[in-house]
Amino acid sequence: MDINYWNKICKNYQSEVLSVFDNDLHGLVKQRVGKIAQEEEIERAADIGCGVGRFTPLLAEQFEEVEACDLSSVGLKNAKRRCSQQDNINFYQVDLVSEAIPFAPVDFAFCVNVLIMPSLDQRLRAWRSVTNQVNRGGTLLLVVPSLESVQMEFYSNVERRLSDGEGCGEAVRNSIDEKARASDLRLGVHQLDGVRTKHYLKDEIAQMLEEHEFEIQEISKLMYSEDEHTHFSQWDWLATATRK
Ligand SMILES: C[S@@+](CC[C@H](N)C(=O)[O-])C[C@H]1O[C@@H](n2cnc3c(N)ncnc32)[C@H](O)[C@@H]1O
Repeated sequence: MDINYWNKICKNYQSEVLSVFDNDLHGLVKQRVGKIAQEEEIERAADIGCGVGRFTPLLAEQFEEVEACDLSSVGLKNAKRRCSQQDNINFYQVDLVSEAIPFAPVDFAFCVNVLIMPSLDQRLRAWRSVTNQVNRGGTLLLVVPSLESVQMEFYSNVERRLSDGEGCGEAVRNSIDEKARASDLRLGVHQLDGVRTKHYLKDEIAQMLEEHEFEIQEISKLMYSEDEHTHFSQWDWLATATRK
């Protein structure tokens, strides 16, 4: 998951990524952003890991000034094009793992499916960068892949195969669709479209936020549509939290 990887993904973002913007079944993210914009006095917001800028125009409509940053130059180029009608957004190229974020902390940080790098060391650095970018009393909205969703999808596949007449051993074997190291499985690193991606337990997100001195407001399921073949509905976790 280096810059080349993300540049390639951002070139064909629509076909490569299950976009939260387009697939958030109940529009939870947009609702939460609207609520935060209405209820809190926030001037500056940040779209951290903005990618191709799917959410950036929404933030620019709701807040006076928006800082948008990403590792990928291709992502940023697309994001700038998408936001060309809005003049209250500053764009920055930054690696959250190894560089300081080049703008002052904000009262609202928005970070959707960015803290997903498989390396624990890199991920912890990125967590520190993101959480330090929120002023005390400010709000963080975080979306991350759900480990419970991966596990439930597996059980659901086994069930489906059992009801199709497969035996238990066969149903389990046929439901395992990835070869993973034991350490990856213990750390919640599963393949997403063939790429090792960190997935989080709900309690793990709560613990991480508390360790970074945030008070949790909510951790909710962000549901996607049912898969037409498996009939399983995946979800991500959406967390909002206030910096103490
Ligand atoms: C799955 S995309 C999500 C993009 C956007 N937040 C959205 O919801 O459409 C993940 C984004 O995180 C960015 N990213 C990954 N690692 C990064 C890093 N170390 N520093 C900055 N951005 C990073 C990628 O370039 C990519 O644009």
